[in-house]
Amino acid sequence: MRVLLVCLAGLLVCLKTADSHSLPQKDYDTDSNKHDITDPLNDTSGNNSSSVPDNFSGIFDSSTTRFIARSVTRGGKKESMGIYAYKNGKLKMILEDSLAVSPWSSKSRAYLGNKDGIYVYDTETEKLEKYGNLSDNVIGIAKENRSDDLYILTEDHVVYKVTEEGTKKVKINEAEHVEKIALDWDDNLYYIGANDHPYVVTSDGAKKIEGLPVNSTRTFISRPPIKIEHGAWFMCEKQAYIIYPNATSEPYVFNDQEKLEHEKTVRALKTILSQVDNQPVE
Ligand SMILES: *[C@@H]1O[C@H](CO)[C@@H](O)[C@H](O)[C@H]1NC(C)=O
Ligand SMILES: *[C@@H]1O[C@H](CO)[C@@H](O)[C@H](O)[C@H]1NC(C)=O
Ligand SMILES: *[C@@H]1O[C@H](CO)[C@@H](O)[C@H](O)[C@H]1NC(C)=O
Ligand SMILES: *[C@@H]1O[C@H](CO)[C@@H](O)[C@H](O)[C@H]1NC(C)=O
Ligand SMILES: *[C@@H]1O[C@H](CO)[C@@H](O)[C@H](O)[C@H]1NC(C)=O
Ligand SMILES: *[C@@H]1O[C@H](CO)[C@@H](O)[C@H](O)[C@H]1NC(C)=O
Ligand SMILES: *[C@@H]1O[C@H](CO)[C@@H](O)[C@H](O)[C@H]1NC(C)=O
Ligand SMILES: *[C@@H]1O[C@H](CO)[C@@H](O)[C@H](O)[C@H]1NC(C)=O
Repeated sequence: MRVLLVCLAGLLVCLKTADSHSLPQKDYDTDSNKHDITDPLNDTSGNNSSSVPDNFSGIFDSSTTRFIARSVTRGGKKESMGIYAYKNGKLKMILEDSLAVSPWSSKSRAYLGNKDGIYVYDTETEKLEKYGNLSDNVIGIAKENRSDDLYILTEDHVVYKVTEEGTKKVKINEAEHVEKIALDWDDNLYYIGANDHPYVVTSDGAKKIEGLPVNSTRTFISRPPIKIEHGAWFMCEKQAYIIYPNATSEPYVFNDQEKLEHEKTVRALKTILSQVDNQPVE
């Protein structure tokens, strides 16, 4: 049986102002019976048309591009079914074999990791181009805030720093058994490693983040919303945390406004996801 997983994790990432308002999208509802947007296609409430806003321009800035990574899990292995860009109510498949996208907040560009290297997508012109000359199978990608350098995670779970416009890569030896990567606004590198646990890479090597549940599953890591100046965003199960470069962490508590906005966003996202789901699948 084919299980379709539209993973909302890193994927509904937005450019421009949206970064400053929206929280990283993941299932952080306290009511687990409600939405589970990690696997929205397995949520039958999503097709309740009366719960779908017919107009979500109030929720999504229409000129903002959001990216949706569509994948299918076959025999425990995640395979790409394409990255889509959603803008002005339109959905466009931009790259077929990609699982990773990293928008660049200050420019209308996003980097995409693909089976055959790195691509760059211009959200204004909607053009996609190969970036640099690397040919790695890239499953995770993050762009530094203060430079044009990138970090990539390759299919063999190795992290590289990519410099010189995508023509040079250096292995990050400190990061091992890496599943996912993220940077914070200060360009510290974090990753999810063994046992689904997050680590931070420091000048004295990788450090395990303290103060988190052990053996957690369904973990997610990303750059935090812009209002969180230091540290990265980490989620396990339904709880969000800010994790710091000194290897500490603290739970993030949503206020009522954030909860409300999140619910509205989830509903709007479900509408978009149902459009993705209606795209033909080979
Ligand atoms: C949704 O997922 C859960 C857990 O994997 C499973 O038990 C349930 O049958 C699924 N529901 C549908 C409608 O696929
Ligand atoms: C569908 O939406 C209506 C109105 O919001 C709500 O009353 C109803 O319970 C929903 N049904 C499901 C199955 O979610
Ligand atoms: C929800 O989806 C199911 C299965 O596709 C369908 O039978 C049902 O009529 C749908 N409900 C609504 C309110 O669209
Ligand atoms: C959608 O909602 C926004 C504000 O909520 C409103 O300004 C806009 O006119 C609405 N658009 C349509 C097409 O109804
Ligand atoms: C990429 O280009 C750089 C500079 O032109 C060159 O030094 C490097 O060997 C190339 N790498 C590959 C993998 O082709
Ligand atoms: C990103 O880098 C710029 C340039 O150094 C800096 O001014 C800005 O504060 C950084 N952004 C955040 C959110 O820290
Ligand atoms: C976590 O997992 C490890 C290895 O699977 C196991 O030895 C350990 O007992 C687990 N710890 C808890 C608290 O479940
Ligand atoms: C670690 O960093 C955080 C955020 O900067 C700070 O609040 C905390 O006190 C630091 N903890 C230690 C033990 O240095």
